[in-house]
Amino acid sequence: MQRIPQPIPYQGSKRNIAQQIMIAFPKQFGSLIEPFAGSAALSVATAYYRKANQFYLNDLNKPLMDLLDKIVNQPAQIANAYEDLWNAQSGRERAFYDFIRDEFNKTHHPDYLLYLLARCVKASVRYNAEGAFNQSPDNRRKGRRPTSMRQEIFAVSNLLQNRTTFASHDYKDTLNVISQSDLIYMDPPYQGTSQSKDHRYYRGIDVEELIDFLAELNKRQVLFLLSYDGRTGDKTYGTMLPAHLKLKRFEICAGRSSQATLLGSHSQTYESLYLSPALVRRLRTNNTFSTTSAVLNKPSRDTQPVQLELGIG
Ligand SMILES: C[S@@+](CC[C@H](N)C(=O)[O-])C[C@H]1O[C@@H](n2cnc3c(N)ncnc32)[C@H](O)[C@@H]1O
Repeated sequence: MQRIPQPIPYQGSKRNIAQQIMIAFPKQFGSLIEPFAGSAALSVATAYYRKANQFYLNDLNKPLMDLLDKIVNQPAQIANAYEDLWNAQSGRERAFYDFIRDEFNKTHHPDYLLYLLARCVKASVRYNAEGAFNQSPDNRRKGRRPTSMRQEIFAVSNLLQNRTTFASHDYKDTLNVISQSDLIYMDPPYQGTSQSKDHRYYRGIDVEELIDFLAELNKRQVLFLLSYDGRTGDKTYGTMLPAHLKLKRFEICAGRSSQATLLGSHSQTYESLYLSPALVRRLRTNNTFSTTSAVLNKPSRDTQPVQLELGIG
């Protein structure tokens, strides 16, 4: 398998299953729009496989979008800043991490965020009730080496420069830029945490609002894909989306979760991928990949989704 670059370590990244998600892409579309971009793993993979030329990345987490913007548009500057921070920590890693975390909370400087993400536990962003980044460092690791970080930064910059727009709004605001020719990929925060205050992300999302948003996209016949619920073995997480949205659900095998591995379990994790009716229609009439067509033409009940298999040529 080829290696898709990714400088931002990010819990929940779709990097490992990006190629499987792309199986459900239509042959042609305008921009790829990610309303919940995170580390933009899917856009990076899409650019890598030359499946789109224009990208629109939005995430409520503004420092994260500022960081992506800098990686794409000022790669040398952010690579140098990371190298300086990485070298400066030598011999006082814990104290230095705490210092940079305080500085980040005061300034929201993207360079500091890259260093924190490279060093924090499980690359997972956590914020306290006041919105301050409060994740601890992984004391066993010093963070990715600067030479390797520089390579990843430049690789992503080459893929996305001059073709990417960055925004930091609530996902619903992306309605203003979405047109029928675009492809929308949505990866909202897991529902388990979205009802209460979500410390991983700035804010949890309201499920009813999301459903209304999807209904509006359907009304406009928008081509969209959505990662949502899933399961590990028999244990499910998140509730499925309602039938009235008429979405087609598939499952993607995401491999063994680290939690399952820790517990000595062999259970695989499957993530649901929902396709909008407009996208299914497009794939049926004008499909790119024979695998996709074969999969989509198989009858599947909502409770027994077809599993997408890696088959991109
Ligand atoms: C599961 S992560 C996306 C991960 C991404 N697919 C990747 O590969 O890195 C969900 C993202 O949604 C963002 N988010 C949470 N609430 C949001 C909202 N109301 N509007 C836009 N983005 C939001 C979070 O900041 C987080 O980065």
